[in-house]
Amino acid sequence: MNFNISRSNLMIILIIALSVIVVLIFIFLNQSSSPAIDEKRICHQTNLPYQNPALPIDERVTDLMSRMTDEEKIGQMVLIEKNSIHGTNDITKYNIGALLSGGGAGPKQETPLAWLMMINDFQSAAKDTCLGIPLLYGIDAIHGHGNVLGATIFPHAIGLGATKDPDLVKRVAKATADEMAATGIYWNYAPNLDVANDIRWGKTYETFGSNPENVAQLGVAYLEGMQDSPNGYFNVLANPKHFIGGGDMEYGTSRNKKFMVEEGNITIDENTLRQTHLIPFQKAIASKARVIMVGTATWQGKMNSDNHHLLTEILKNELGFSGFIVSDWYGVYQIESSKYNSLVRAVNAGIDMVMTPFDYKDFISNMLAALSSGDITKERIDDAVKRILTVKFETGLFDRPQAQPEGLSIIGNNQHREIAREAVRKSQVLLENKNSLLPLPKSLGKIIVAGSSADNLGRQAGGWTTEWQGIDGNYGIVGTTILEAIQNTVSKDTEIDYNKNGNFSITNNLADVGIVVVGEKPYAEGWGDTANPILSSEDLTAIEKVKAKSKKIVIIIVSGRPLDIKEHAKNWDAILATWLPGSEGQGVTDVLFGDYPFTGTLPVKWELN
Ligand code: GLC
Repeated sequence: MNFNISRSNLMIILIIALSVIVVLIFIFLNQSSSPAIDEKRICHQTNLPYQNPALPIDERVTDLMSRMTDEEKIGQMVLIEKNSIHGTNDITKYNIGALLSGGGAGPKQETPLAWLMMINDFQSAAKDTCLGIPLLYGIDAIHGHGNVLGATIFPHAIGLGATKDPDLVKRVAKATADEMAATGIYWNYAPNLDVANDIRWGKTYETFGSNPENVAQLGVAYLEGMQDSPNGYFNVLANPKHFIGGGDMEYGTSRNKKFMVEEGNITIDENTLRQTHLIPFQKAIASKARVIMVGTATWQGKMNSDNHHLLTEILKNELGFSGFIVSDWYGVYQIESSKYNSLVRAVNAGIDMVMTPFDYKDFISNMLAALSSGDITKERIDDAVKRILTVKFETGLFDRPQAQPEGLSIIGNNQHREIAREAVRKSQVLLENKNSLLPLPKSLGKIIVAGSSADNLGRQAGGWTTEWQGIDGNYGIVGTTILEAIQNTVSKDTEIDYNKNGNFSITNNLADVGIVVVGEKPYAEGWGDTANPILSSEDLTAIEKVKAKSKKIVIIIVSGRPLDIKEHAKNWDAILATWLPGSEGQGVTDVLFGDYPFTGTLPVKWELN
């Protein structure tokens, strides 16, 4: 047989052989990364015990877990940011159990219907898994469903902290939950139970302030308002955070070079940690907290997500917390450079669900490897999955009907806006009122209004609104600016002039009152860390210009925390801390013009001189 093969034919044979090898490698890799599917298994069955709402939850959990593969169990332990999902069919393929919208991560059109349809698409993909375990979908609706166009934007927690009114806070939470549930989202990363002891921290406004008892009382009220439902399951799952001690992170110790406080170190001793920061979590657990988020802080040199003493010995064993612990954004993978080792340490410390939040494939392969090597035991995984599934059943995910478009009309309705307006009223704190200038009469002859935050819903709302870092303007939010509220309130004979920079051509008679609404640009988290929170030069200039044209001057401060106004306050007749009031600016004028009394008190210390 003539084996003489021409060079060109040999090349062709080699190329074909190489191509076959490449294809085989690709198939193997794809097979090995996708979960092993037992061909004999019967999927999509109905009328199984875990699907029966009449059975006790623990029986349903036991039945469901008995049917789950290791891959399906591990899929329940991962929390992925929705923009990191490469096609909804990956939710099915990798048995993903939880998704979140990171700040501002919504559908292209942020309308309520678009949100509802997006969530329902994700849930359908989860339903297509062998056992049809529904997704837990989480979001930071920390002052209303802030990413959804037209939603009611309530005052941020720092303002609610100034109300010291648990009943009001409960109603705020209930209204928020109803707007969330209308879009099919049943997990809110709130309340924040941090006790804020350093106002240089960008998260200060997310807290109820620096008094542990006030934080505990309002945090529990918020949790109860969020979860209360007549249907026997949680309306929306509340999520106390960030366990534990973030309010005492030391300035300048952040792991992240872009920040000064966030992701920082805590050095207080355990007794102080317990006396200050544990109280709100203890009260929350006693009031049915069923998921707790661990912060990304480091306590005495160990990251909280790596701390077995905090998470298992104290939280789970000593306090008897039987829900699940979820880690915070990428907070596990910062434990050490090896993702595998970080996962092993975090899950063995007590983390039950990992907000990776990006890659699910290497999470699953690392967890399967850790299970097979024994670095993470089957018992630990079963414990975590049992906790997670129990809470999913308690939240009614297996039983409640899918949210429908008809329910969307509740979003931003008048009843909710009235609750928000009441919260704004009760959060206003009068810092200075020389000669009882306030409240102002509605029938003044002439008022001039200026300042960066007078006609700016984005500044009123602050961070976590429309975008993660908030917006600086009047798009994406439906509401009433403080300027509009003033215009709505005064008598028809009162002349009102507005100029953001304070440029008024008054020559002869001065305005009766000048109102300058100043404050901070929106920010969130570490991006709000600052050495010294102060007013901008533009705002200070506007104040000077208005002062020169007015008989009396009122300063309204729209901020997430106290600002350093020590050298200026003495020159102003009245000063009002309005915090971050949200969409209902009319609540500010309700007290400014005397329809309601000033009742707010400082949630954190504010030194005026
Ligand atoms: C963030 C925050 C946390 C938030 C989570 C999800 O980084 O620390 O408060 O709930 O990520 O957005």
